[in-house]
Amino acid sequence: MNDSTAVNTPAAPAPDVVEIDKLWSVFHSAGRDAVVHQDLDLRIVDGEFMSIVGGSGSGKTVLLRQMLGLEKPARGRVTVLGKPAAQLGAEGAASRVGMLFQHGALYSAFTVLENIAFALRELGTLPSKLVREVAMVKLQMVGLEPAQAHKMPSDLSGGMVKRVALARALVMDPPLLLLDEPTAGLDPDSADGFVALLRSLHQELGLTVVMVTHDLDTLFELSTRIAVVAEKRIIACGTPLQVMAHDHPFIHDFFLGARGQRAAAVLRQAPHNE
Ligand SMILES: Nc1ncnc2c1ncn2[C@@H]1O[C@H](COP(=O)(O)OP(=O)(O)O)[C@@H](O)[C@H]1O
Ligand SMILES: [Mg+2]
Repeated sequence: MNDSTAVNTPAAPAPDVVEIDKLWSVFHSAGRDAVVHQDLDLRIVDGEFMSIVGGSGSGKTVLLRQMLGLEKPARGRVTVLGKPAAQLGAEGAASRVGMLFQHGALYSAFTVLENIAFALRELGTLPSKLVREVAMVKLQMVGLEPAQAHKMPSDLSGGMVKRVALARALVMDPPLLLLDEPTAGLDPDSADGFVALLRSLHQELGLTVVMVTHDLDTLFELSTRIAVVAEKRIIACGTPLQVMAHDHPFIHDFFLGARGQRAAAVLRQAPHNE
C-alpha cells in the first residue's frame, strides 16, 4: 500500500513462510461435498519446526498438499513464500518446497543417485556431471555413504529409503520442507536416527519445517510449535507445553495417555522446548 513511500521507513516485517487464511478444502464425491477444512487459519514463521497433529482423516495430509499447491482452496488463501501456493507448480516447486510424502516410494527403476538427482535433471539447466556431484553431496548430507549411490531402491532398508527420499526433497535447497509422517513404519532405532538427522538438518540448513506426525517421541524431540487439527480447523497452536495445556478432548486423549505422560516428562527436562 505505502511501498512507494517506504524508502526511509523501517522495512515491513518479512512475510511468514506459510500464511493460511480462512481455508476451505472441499472434495466432491458421490454427488456430495465433503468439507475437510473450514475457515482454517495457520501461520508458519521462518525457521520454525512446526508439527501438525490430529486424528486420522482430520485433514493433515490435505493441509500439506495445499501448501504444495497440489490441492486448491475451495475458499480462502494459501500463501507460501509470499506467493499463492497454486503458483508453485508452474515455477518449479522443488526449489521452493521439499516434500517427503508418507508413502513416497522411490522410483524403483532408478538408482539411489538418480532418484536424488531427479528434479535437478528434469530442470535440464545443469551439465550432468554437475547434477551427479550435487546429488552426491545430498547423499552424504543425509548420512549415506558414497558406496550406496549406485544401489537400487529394492536393496535399501526402510530407514535408508527415507534418507534417499529426504535427499531427493532437498536436492534444490528449498527453504521449506514438508514431512508427512516421516518416522511411520520405521523400527525404533531407524526412527531415532532419522529424527536426529531431521534435527541437525533443521538447525544447520536453517530450514523451516512443517511435519505431520502422530508419534509423540518424534513430536517432542523436534517441534518448536505444534498445531492441532480438529473440527476442520486449527483448534490450538503454540509451544508443546502451551498446546498440552489446552482443554480439548482430542488434546487430552492424544497427549495425556500413558505414552504422552512419558514424553511430557522428557519434555519438561528439555529447556529448549519451553
Ligand atoms: N482426493 C481426495 N478425494 C476425496 N476425498 C479426499 C481426497 N483426499 C483426501 N480426502 C478426504 O479428506 C479427509 C482428510 O484426509 P487426509 O488429509 O488424508 O487425512 P489425515 O489427517 O489422516 O492425513 C479424509 O476424509 C479423506 O478421505
Ligand atoms: Mg495423512
